[in-house]
Amino acid sequence: MNEEQAKISARGWPTEVHTLDDLTDQVALVTGASRGIGLAVATELGHLGAVVYGGMRMPKAVDGVKPIRLDVTQEATVSAAIVQVEKEASRLDVLVNNAGVGVSDGDLAVISSEEIREVLETNLLGPMLVSKHALPLLLKRRGGRIVNVSSLVGAMTDGMEGNWPAYRVSKNGLNGLTIYLHGEYGPQGLIANSVCPGHTRTDLGGPDART
Ligand SMILES: NC(=O)c1ccc[n+]([C@@H]2O[C@H](COP(=O)([O-])OP(=O)(O)OC[C@H]3O[C@@H](n4cnc5c(N)ncnc54)[C@H](OP(=O)(O)O)[C@@H]3O)[C@@H](O)[C@H]2O)c1
Repeated sequence: MNEEQAKISARGWPTEVHTLDDLTDQVALVTGASRGIGLAVATELGHLGAVVYGGMRMPKAVDGVKPIRLDVTQEATVSAAIVQVEKEASRLDVLVNNAGVGVSDGDLAVISSEEIREVLETNLLGPMLVSKHALPLLLKRRGGRIVNVSSLVGAMTDGMEGNWPAYRVSKNGLNGLTIYLHGEYGPQGLIANSVCPGHTRTDLGGPDART
């Protein structure tokens, strides 16, 4: 068990997750699939057999992924992307709300209002709007999944101090969205989860991350 799993386990949350290893005939949409974690998740879902749409602001070719224009802050691109998935694939089984921006140093008194807006619009309003437009397709059959890519720095359990206020609050709100989706749509068969990838070496995570 690594350090992060030990922390989670100490809180009494499950660390073992049963995962499906065959997604043949399933359709997935991953936002922010142009690079970083979103690119890796989209590629891996393809390896598991899913038809994968990779939502990108600037669509580009990626092996095993169907690029689709999707800027989570531009609702017209969100609705158009979902319409395209419905038209081409007639179903959606997995939505991964991965697109995110963060984190500059500084507490609330010093960060810019522009950063607060951009982070909340991308990390919180974005997943809410993508989920809203995707729900009718996801609810067509039981077992549809929404995976919200969150972060431990937005979990209330450890306190929220230590800079990155907009990022922390956006991820905290994203966890709220997960709980809402679970409560509202769980009875109709939707499975909603928040996940934290851990500190990861990407443009957002920076060069010092261990993985
Ligand atoms: N890396 C970590 O250590 C870490 C830890 C915990 C959680 N996370 C979370 O993991 C997720 C992915 O992060 P990452 O590390 O892979 O970051 P990244 O390498 O910086 O990639 C961010 C991705 O989000 C996309 N994006 C940004 N704004 C967007 C928008 N308005 N519409 C659509 N796509 C947009 C980017 O697209 P462009 O190429 O167009 O900019 C890019 O594909 C984020 O939600 C982040 O908060 C990361």
